[in-house]
Amino acid sequence: MSTHLTLAIETSCDDTSVALVDDRGWVLRQATANQDMAHLPFGGVVPEIAGRNHLDALMPLVDVLFQKTDVDWSRIRGIAVTNRPGLIGSLIVGLVTAKTLALVHGKPFIGVHHIEGHVLSAFLSETPVEKSLLWQDPFIALVISGGHSHLYLVDNGTYVPLGQTQDDAAGEAFDKFAKMLGLGYPGGVLIDRLAQAGRRDAFDFPRALIKEKNYDFSFSGLKSSGQRCLQALGDEIENRKPDLCASYQEAIVDVLLSKLEKALVNSKIKKFVITGGVSANSRIRERAAELARRRGCEYRIPPLKFCTDNAAMIGYAGSLRLQKGEFSRQDLPPQPRAELV
Ligand code: KG4
Ligand code: ZN
Repeated sequence: MSTHLTLAIETSCDDTSVALVDDRGWVLRQATANQDMAHLPFGGVVPEIAGRNHLDALMPLVDVLFQKTDVDWSRIRGIAVTNRPGLIGSLIVGLVTAKTLALVHGKPFIGVHHIEGHVLSAFLSETPVEKSLLWQDPFIALVISGGHSHLYLVDNGTYVPLGQTQDDAAGEAFDKFAKMLGLGYPGGVLIDRLAQAGRRDAFDFPRALIKEKNYDFSFSGLKSSGQRCLQALGDEIENRKPDLCASYQEAIVDVLLSKLEKALVNSKIKKFVITGGVSANSRIRERAAELARRRGCEYRIPPLKFCTDNAAMIGYAGSLRLQKGEFSRQDLPPQPRAELV
């Protein structure tokens, strides 16, 4: 039984999540309180509501985690907490709680970059593992969520940014189109579902920057094009929803996968991960498998519960740093904006 466990706390946006993770990425248990219902009437995350809900949910979740696993504090190596980037009121709740638990129990704590967590979520395991699954060789990471769309070259704990979105994140592009279609929030999964029954070539949506040499993305033109298309369709929209979703989704997936492929080809790297909430998308998973086959690559996409925001990924990222002797000081600030380097 592993004695070196990391208690992880993630409250950077609207999900309150806690987890116990061992040094090799085995997730003993994770508990997450989803706030979707609280934000549903507003069609997006309301920062003040998110912060207040974290405050209510966090400590009861930590208690449940210890009770259900029968783990006591003697087995805890340290505490990992997301301190950047994110909503300031949400980050503060997790960070102050982590600092207080660290002081009370005499444990080190470490602030973790949310995106580093997303990258490393590809190496989490739901069963005990003999050795760490983490690749030592360089790999390309595509992190796509409601807040970010980034491409990195990851080499032994360093993150070289290759490209990122110039405007909306991939998840936002899904969510905003879902809102225009009156599907609800968060919309990515609803578009994914409707798209299963639609034709991917029914509508011709733009693929911005796809031919550019860089690795950047842009989704604001696609959003406007979606809006114009819906205006032109008028009463027809209702019958065309599956076709609209399939075509719109294909435009996003085409851009993301072609930039990923370009990075693999130019770097001659044969390993990649796709993570973040949007990596839950079934078409992305299909296309990633096809890309890996075609290019002879090894790849990882985490299971669904580790794609969206979760504490386990923060626990593993923090554990790797705690194992190296790194830790944060009590004056560590929350940072609403921060690059991953
Ligand atoms: O990683 P995440 O939980 O939160 C952020 O850090 O942003 O990602 C949430 C995003 C939302 O935009 C949601 O619509 C999108 O992930 N998403 C999906 C799917 N499931 C979640 N997008 C497309 N297809 C899905 N199946
Ligand atoms: Zn995230």
